[in-house]
Amino acid sequence: MHASNAKKIEPEGGEWTPTSWQRKPAAQQPVYPDPVALQEVLSQLARLPPLVTSWEIETLKQQLAEATRGERFLLQGGDCSESFADCESSSIAYKLKILLQMGLVLTQSGRKRVIRVGRFAGQYAKPRSADTETREGVTLPTYRGDMINRGGFTVADRTPNPELLLRAYERSALTINFIRSLVDGGFADLHHPEYWELGFMSKSPLAAEYRRMVESLGDSLRFMETLIGSPVSEINRVDFFTSHEGLQLYYEQAQTRQVPRRDGWYNLSTHFPWIGDRTRALGGAHLEYFRGIANPIAVKVGATMTPEEALALTEILNPANEPGRLTFIHRLGADRVEAMLPGLVKAMQGHGRQVLWCCDPMHGNTETTASGIKTRRFEKILAELEASFHILRDCGAHLGGVHFELTGDNVTECIGGSCGLTEADLSRAYRSQLDPRLNYEQALEMTLLLARLMSQRPLAKRG
Ligand code: PEP
Ligand code: CO
Repeated sequence: MHASNAKKIEPEGGEWTPTSWQRKPAAQQPVYPDPVALQEVLSQLARLPPLVTSWEIETLKQQLAEATRGERFLLQGGDCSESFADCESSSIAYKLKILLQMGLVLTQSGRKRVIRVGRFAGQYAKPRSADTETREGVTLPTYRGDMINRGGFTVADRTPNPELLLRAYERSALTINFIRSLVDGGFADLHHPEYWELGFMSKSPLAAEYRRMVESLGDSLRFMETLIGSPVSEINRVDFFTSHEGLQLYYEQAQTRQVPRRDGWYNLSTHFPWIGDRTRALGGAHLEYFRGIANPIAVKVGATMTPEEALALTEILNPANEPGRLTFIHRLGADRVEAMLPGLVKAMQGHGRQVLWCCDPMHGNTETTASGIKTRRFEKILAELEASFHILRDCGAHLGGVHFELTGDNVTECIGGSCGLTEADLSRAYRSQLDPRLNYEQALEMTLLLARLMSQRPLAKRG
C-alpha cells in the first residue's frame, strides 16, 4: 500500500455514529411534516432483516480492489431512478439480461473478469435542482423519487411521506429476491446465453457481432470442459451486486448495523452506495455518514471538482488508503474531460492514493432539445468514454469501470447509435421519469465499441 504524503484531514465534529451526519448540513433532504411518524418508520426499518450481507459486501470490496489493480472491470448500470410501478418481472429480467450481455462482451474482449453491479433495489431517491416546483401560481415540494413522495401535482402527492421509505425497502427486497432466484436458478449460466436474448434484438445490425462473440465463448467453454473432462460449474452462476445513490440519509442510517465477528458498521441496504455530485460537500452530512460505513463506496466526480478537493475526499473517505474502498465515478462531460481528468488522476498518483476510476459518460452530457425534451447524444457519450480510456492509459493509470443509465427496454430517450434514433423519435417511447437512458440496442453497441478499445490494450500484470 502507498503512504500518503498529504496532510491528514480530520473531519470536525468528533466521533462517528450512524446518526452523526445529523450534526452536519444535509443537502437534498425532504422535510417531513410529522417527525414522530418518521421516527416510527425508522425504528421499523431498523428491525427488518437486512437486504444484503456483510460477506457479500466484503467479496465485492475484494473484487473492486482487484479492479483497482487492473485485474477486473466494473460494469455498473440501470435506471436513473427506479419507480414503484416498474417493480415487475419483465422490467427486472430485461435489465439483468442487458447487463449479462454487456458483461459477456467485456469479458470476452477485455480478457478480464467483470464485476456486475446494478443501479437497482434501492435507487428510489433523486437529487433535484430546486426544493419546490411552481405551476400556475401553486408552489409545492419538488418530486424527490418514489421513496420520498409522488410525482402528481397535489399537496397529498408531494408531501414527503415516511411510509414510502418502507414501501421502497419492500420493493428493494422484492427486486433483490427475484434477481437472486434468477441467478441461482441458472438464468445467468454462461452455457446458455440464449436465455438473455431479447425479442427485438434479431433485427439489430449488431446482432451478428454479438452472436459471433457468444459462439466463440461457447467454443472456449466446450474446449475447456473437454480438456478437464467435466462441466465448468463455476460458470453456472455469476455474481450480481446492488448499488444506489445514498441520498436519503434517514433510510441509509436505519439499515446501518454491526454484524457478529466483524468490526465496523455496514450499510446492509445495498452492497455499493455512492455519493452524488450534488451532495459531496467536504463538510456535509453525506461525507460524514459515508466515512463511517465499511462498504465499498463511490463518489460522483463532476465538473466542479478540483484536484485538491478530490484529495481531501480520499483522505476523509479512505484514510487507510485501502484498495477497493473508494471508486471515483467521473462524469465530466465530453467537452471537459480532456481538460479536467489528467489533473485529477495526477493528484491521486502524486499522493499514492488508491482509487478505482469508473467513467459515467451519461451525466456530463445531458442536454435539452428545442422542444424541451431532456436527451443525450450517443456520440458524446462514446466520446467521453473513449477520451477517458486514453487519458487514463496515457497517465499510466487505467479505466477500471463504466457506469451507464440504461434499460433493457426498447425506449427512445437518447439520440444516435446505429439504430439511428433522431430528435423526432424521442416522443415515441420516452419512458424515463428523469434522465434519458440508453436503450437495449444502444447499450449493446456502446459495449461493443468499448470492447474494441479494451481488446487493443495489453493484458494487465497479475498482482
Ligand atoms: C445519477 O446518477 O442519477 C445522478 C444524479 O448523478 P450525479 O450525481 O452524477 O449528477
Ligand atoms: Co441520472
